[in-house]
Amino acid sequence: MDSRRSFFRKAVGISGVMGLGAIPGMSRSHSVSEALLELSKMDIPEAVVNEDIWKRIQQAYTVSPNIINLNNGGVSPQPKVVQDAVDRYYHLSNEAPSYYMWRILDQGRESVRMKLADLAGVSHEEIAVNRNATEALDTVIFGMPLNQGDEVILTKQDYPNMINAWKQREKREGIKLVWLNLDLPSEDDEYFINAYNKATTSKTRVYHITHMINWNGQILPAKKLCKVAREKGIKSIVDGAHTFAHLDFKIADLNCDYFGTSLHKWLCAPFGTGMLYMKKERIAETWPLIPHHEPQSENIRKFEALGTRSFAPEQAIGHAINFHLSIGSKLKQQRLQYLKNYWCEKVNDNPKININTSLNPDYSCALAIVDIEGMEPGEVSSRLFRDYKIHTTSIKWENIRGVRITPHVYTMTYDLDRLVTALTEIAKNNGS
Ligand SMILES: Cc1ncc(COP(=O)(O)O)c(C=O)c1O
Repeated sequence: MDSRRSFFRKAVGISGVMGLGAIPGMSRSHSVSEALLELSKMDIPEAVVNEDIWKRIQQAYTVSPNIINLNNGGVSPQPKVVQDAVDRYYHLSNEAPSYYMWRILDQGRESVRMKLADLAGVSHEEIAVNRNATEALDTVIFGMPLNQGDEVILTKQDYPNMINAWKQREKREGIKLVWLNLDLPSEDDEYFINAYNKATTSKTRVYHITHMINWNGQILPAKKLCKVAREKGIKSIVDGAHTFAHLDFKIADLNCDYFGTSLHKWLCAPFGTGMLYMKKERIAETWPLIPHHEPQSENIRKFEALGTRSFAPEQAIGHAINFHLSIGSKLKQQRLQYLKNYWCEKVNDNPKININTSLNPDYSCALAIVDIEGMEPGEVSSRLFRDYKIHTTSIKWENIRGVRITPHVYTMTYDLDRLVTALTEIAKNNGS
């Protein structure tokens, strides 16, 4: 709370209400600034449920009032202040690309690295900026030194891009993949720890840990799993695509070797932004995905040798961080948790509706999955859009099925009331 307040006051003092003054349309920006200021003065439990304030924070976004977007887990919209920054940097770049991108905008790269490092609670010498979680985690999966026969423990519920990367290493180099098939949801840390422990042998070199399972929002006890790995001399890779700027934690808390995340999900940074964290001791031994003139260097920047790309999205990450901090990680997590519980608790007693996600805050946050008996998830998702203009995504993956619902900070409880009505009516009319 104190840090939330003092951050806000400092920011107001230095740059005039978080740079939100840059939003064209002063009344909207004024309303958002006022709402953020009010929020910063409230205690968290009071702020979490104050719909009037969140309604004004919604004005920071340009989201369509004509659909209810409940698939923020796929990719999230950016506040207007972030969109405007991307536009500005893009237009500036076009005035003389090699001058403005490489000589001017590039000067902001180290500052973006430092801001990300502060948010992650690690050294900026351990942060690389890249385009998405896939690029961050593929850098690790393909860059780790492993030999034929070395074993990697992963789960069938991990993200397909990561599974495919590991399968490619298996095919090309003969490393061995050891699969866990998780029974979810679970509220038992020991269940996960035992599963990894039981699969561990003297040849295990890596634990691949998805911090939050994208299919149903399950949170894994990543910190405990990384500890088990460390005690056994095993490297830990955390796929944090869904937890960074969603849950209130620092990467340093996990004590993992590697962490990859998207920034265009919960941070609301520009599309095509991501981040790689690598423990200092791991950098020299990890080969870059895109070769660098010093591939065995200890400098994290060797993972950014991408060639020409647009600097605008990367440079606008700082604006997304400022916006995120003006709400605060703790309040954001609790508001998202509240929104998820708000709709889940209203349908939970319906015998035809199953929530396949834990409602315990230690095991899930914004993301939850709902299944209607007697209906295919795809059919439910189509009905939600056709009849109620609610945009969602349907999931059928391994042993998990349902429609995934992910609100964000601009989602209002009245949007979720429409969801509750829709699910109840669909279950009544179509469910078995
Ligand atoms: C768990 C998980 N890991 C990795 C990714 C890949 O993220 P990106 O599309 O940013 O590469 C996703 C995307 O949804 C995900 O859910």
